[in-house]
Amino acid sequence: MSFAFKHFPAARDDLRADVLAGLAASPKAIPPKYFYDDAGCRLFEAICTQPEYALCRTEQALMAAHLPDIAAAVGDVDCIVEPGAGDCAKVRLLLGALRPSHLAVIDIAGAPLAAAAQGISRDHPELAVTALAMDFLRDLEAAAAWLPAGKRLVYYPGSSIGNFPPESASGLLARFRHLAGAEGRLLVGFDLKKDPQRLHAAYNDAAGITAAFNLNLLTRLNRELDADFDLARFSHYAFYNPVAGRVEMHLVSLADQTVGVAGERFRFALGETLHTEHSYKFRCDEFSALARTAGWQQEGEWVRDGFAVQLFA
Ligand SMILES: C[S@@+](CC[C@H](N)C(=O)[O-])C[C@H]1O[C@@H](n2cnc3c(N)ncnc32)[C@H](O)[C@@H]1O
Repeated sequence: MSFAFKHFPAARDDLRADVLAGLAASPKAIPPKYFYDDAGCRLFEAICTQPEYALCRTEQALMAAHLPDIAAAVGDVDCIVEPGAGDCAKVRLLLGALRPSHLAVIDIAGAPLAAAAQGISRDHPELAVTALAMDFLRDLEAAAAWLPAGKRLVYYPGSSIGNFPPESASGLLARFRHLAGAEGRLLVGFDLKKDPQRLHAAYNDAAGITAAFNLNLLTRLNRELDADFDLARFSHYAFYNPVAGRVEMHLVSLADQTVGVAGERFRFALGETLHTEHSYKFRCDEFSALARTAGWQQEGEWVRDGFAVQLFA
């Protein structure tokens, strides 16, 4: 029916400021949202096909198996909104079951988002599709102006919520309430706590795709911030920290070295890490308690092989 694409300019200045601040901090850290340039998006899709990384496949299988139940629990919705939609593969399932009149997909990676959303628009001519290229951590409130009135479902799959420490996750879930509106619902997919060996394997796939995804951040900084990272002098390192309940992903410096980034110099000691991502894992009761801190009440729960989806109102 209709397709709209809106780009909220941000990117370059934010990237520079965030990276310089992150490299000056101790310990060094760069926000994971910067993984997703075009190559990062492709590598993430490749991660999802690795035998060790079952998360995406399990969530798809869970959704397919419980779709009628989930649709009945969600009820009628006019609009589905997905922040961080990526290739929009997961929301396609929901479209068939919920039959909304409007779909709004949001992602910081504008070009892949536009292509995926256009594909949905072609396959669902009855649907109004809006693609919003934005950093939702910055501009989420502006997205609401692009959504129709009526009942909205905010869909946040992929355990993306696990990328935020609990206080920030609670803050983001509270902002989703504004996006969902008064009658709104929230459907979230998250990875469960499980055998640390399984988690370790998932973030250290034998083909090295997660390592390439992690190191691609440095390639991006070399290209976009005129940096001179030598990728051979950094190593992908990911491990499950059961005390904190999260997988931590780092790039470890393999030498004493100094790296130039956007005209500034940063020293990396041998063994020093640049932290690039947290992936928090939850128990079901922990996640519903977290969502309660953001004002959401649990209405449904579906679990399959170490992965859960919860519905909130
Ligand atoms: C782990 S992928 C998940 C993609 C998809 N939702 C799924 O479940 O397969 C995370 C997606 O969120 C996007 N993203 C991460 N941080 C973002 C931010 N702050 N604003 C907008 N999009 C973001 C990334 O570009 C990426 O496409």
